Amino acid sequence: MIHIRPADKRDAPTVFPWRNSENVRKSSLSSQKINWEAHNAWFNASLLSQEKRLFMIESQNMAVGCLRFDFLENDAVEISIYLDPLQCGKGYGKEGLLQGIAWLSNAGFNFKKIIAKILPENVISKALFQSVGFNPKYEVFELELT
Ligand SMILES: CC(C)(COP(=O)(O)OP(=O)(O)OC[C@H]1O[C@@H](n2cnc3c(N)ncnc32)[C@H](O)[C@@H]1OP(=O)(O)O)[C@@H](O)C(=O)NCCC(=O)NCCS
Repeated sequence: MIHIRPADKRDAPTVFPWRNSENVRKSSLSSQKINWEAHNAWFNASLLSQEKRLFMIESQNMAVGCLRFDFLENDAVEISIYLDPLQCGKGYGKEGLLQGIAWLSNAGFNFKKIIAKILPENVISKALFQSVGFNPKYEVFELELT
């Protein structure tokens, strides 16, 4: 049984090793390791931002993952989720995602869609998002200029 709760600044050290784990970095659009100072500054700024909401996913009061909503300009909310790498594959991602969507739907914000950016090779994430009703809409192609 899991639940989500709003994150606070005491959660920054918990999330830090998850953010830098191989599993999360390889699924992330920004795959560089980040240092503690940068992470902590980002985390605290995000908590204060009107454009973001951060949640912790907990199982029996132990933090197992985190969830973030970014309110975008075009009536869309971007969702991102990652777990403690030791806690993957136990259903926490799906349940956390469903609870996050339920919170967002009931929070009274004005938006029309929820989007998730997923790397093409991230099959688990694609399956997860599709299993709760997301559909692939478009692919982004990139040419890296040196
Ligand atoms: C993506 C992530 C949150 C999934 O959480 P999880 O708890 O491991 O996933 P769950 O156990 O809830 O499984 C959810 C669905 O994913 C799929 N899935 C899970 N593990 C899988 C695996 N090893 N292979 C294929 N599909 C898998 C299944 O479709 C599953 O749904 P089902 O059980 O109804 O069939 C987690 O793996 C993670 O933190 N990944 C790194 C960060 C990331 O990719 N974030 C998403 C970008 S926004």
